[in-house]
Amino acid sequence: MTMTANNARADNTSADNTGAAKTRAAKVTAEVLEAFAGTPDARVRELLMSLISHVHAFAAETELTTREWMAGLEFLTAVGQKCDDQRQEFILLSDVLGLSSLVETLNGPEGATESTVLGPFYLPGAPHKELGESIGRPQDGEPTLIRGRVTAIDGEPIDGATLDVWQCASNGLYDIQDPDQPPFNLRGVFTTGADGGYSFRTVRPVSYPVPVDGPVGTVFRLTNRHHWRAAHVHAIVGAPGYQAVTTHIFDAANPYNDSDAVFGVRGSLIQEFRPAGPADPPGVTQVVEVDFVLAPAVG
Ligand code: BEZ
Ligand code: FE
Repeated sequence: MTMTANNARADNTSADNTGAAKTRAAKVTAEVLEAFAGTPDARVRELLMSLISHVHAFAAETELTTREWMAGLEFLTAVGQKCDDQRQEFILLSDVLGLSSLVETLNGPEGATESTVLGPFYLPGAPHKELGESIGRPQDGEPTLIRGRVTAIDGEPIDGATLDVWQCASNGLYDIQDPDQPPFNLRGVFTTGADGGYSFRTVRPVSYPVPVDGPVGTVFRLTNRHHWRAAHVHAIVGAPGYQAVTTHIFDAANPYNDSDAVFGVRGSLIQEFRPAGPADPPGVTQVVEVDFVLAPAVG
């Protein structure tokens, strides 16, 4: 990836940023908007017109040079070329720019558990497990029990809600990144009982670095940002008749809660992990209690 925009403005010999150039630029924008104004689908029209307005305003406001524009296109090309069936560099770019977090925030229903980024490591088809079962192996980390209830906004327990959970091992790697983990390690789907209750065993989550071996790594290097995610367990919680929520369980003791690389932390999702006591099930050293609240499905 060649983010070659350094000092590009100085090299842009044809730059003409006079008032006359700005007037001509505004005419270009108006002409383009007019060309798209007849788009028949109202939502497609709204999205396209707004996108064009904002992208043109960005170029005009920053006085984007030809070289910078080309560097941007080369960067996006490299992002696309890094994608395959295991790696989604565009989602990672969206995550790192905070767009994924913003879109989740805009779309979360009022009163429900807050949603946050899906991330690139979700795999559909994780094994269904019995309540209380473990999703990992002893060598994966500190044995931890996660339990709680899934309810509706009015507090009614939801019988038959599913929790699709996944996380990395204490080496900071997901199963699909680590040949030493079996497929679907630290992944599982659990179904609540009549009281809305669920429980499963896993390991205490750890912080881990997001992948920086692709073009998105350049964004971190150019901006002096660290690339660590706050420790978390992922969950997609859903039930028939309710809107599924894509969320995380964050660990209150983690040092990255205030500077998560993908802006995914919400205060409401930070939980206290406590040492297991004699009243807790044997074999775990940590316990965390987490309730999830679902909003009714729309339509
Ligand atoms: C994750 O939590 O799995 C993740 C989210 C965004 C970027 C990279 C990883
Ligand atoms: Fe993750």
